Amino acid sequence: MSHNFTSQSGDGLHVAIIMDGNGRWATRRGLPRVAGHRAGVAALKRIVEHAPDVGIRALTVYAFSADNWARPAGEVQSLFWLMRAFLRLETERLRQKSVRMQIIGRRDRIPAAALREVNRSEFVTAAGRRLLFRVAIDYSARDAIARAASSSPAQEASVSAARSAMHHELTREVGEVDLLIRTGGEKRLSDFLLWESAYAELYFTDCMWPDFSPAELDAALAEFRHRERRFGAVPTAAVAAGGSR
Ligand code: IPE
Ligand code: IPE
Ligand code: MG
Repeated sequence: MSHNFTSQSGDGLHVAIIMDGNGRWATRRGLPRVAGHRAGVAALKRIVEHAPDVGIRALTVYAFSADNWARPAGEVQSLFWLMRAFLRLETERLRQKSVRMQIIGRRDRIPAAALREVNRSEFVTAAGRRLLFRVAIDYSARDAIARAASSSPAQEASVSAARSAMHHELTREVGEVDLLIRTGGEKRLSDFLLWESAYAELYFTDCMWPDFSPAELDAALAEFRHRERRFGAVPTAAVAAGGSR
């Protein structure tokens, strides 16, 4: 099956998802917020299964932001418990499906039991080639950018050399984001992949994350395919007509 998507890397898309709306999904049903997070994990499983079949080679999902530590301790605890359960139950299936799981973000504040499961899952799935599945945990794009800046040699000769070193550091293996989806109705980035999404197509939907189905992902991809990505240049038709001069 061939896909006509315009991706920067040419070999499949990098899709990023801000999985928002779990709490509201639950509250509307008269359920505790944690029930929304549990339903959100089920939605994530379906999306990870579907992604490689529709031309996605890398999927980065926002599971816990560095700012989410501000939530009540009980909710934070449930979130890490659910992550741990997800990895414990799904790692073998990810491996069988040739999905490589990786986390991005800070590792030093993740509860020990959850971190053990993360390390195990990364190790077990390391050979996966069909899909790179990245989970952002305790993640802040500003932190990631600041870290990349401080790890690149301080005496970079020029702004453009510094910029390309940082770009390499932030996008290696995975490339830039082609399509960024946010569920839950809010239209903001909440400190997610700011550098990597410089030319991403943005797709916002009112669908709450637990209701985000493979069909919803297909709809987002269908819209993506109709957009024209220009990366600062002029439309291809204008070039053909000599309009670039
Ligand atoms: C997203 O859903 C999941 C996390 C941030 C962990 P929310 O919990 O933010 O749900 P809403 O936005 O309150 O509905
Ligand atoms: C962003 O959602 C983080 C995740 C989805 C994990 P939030 O619900 O935390 O974002 P804000 O607070 O509405 O910006
Ligand atoms: Mg939210």
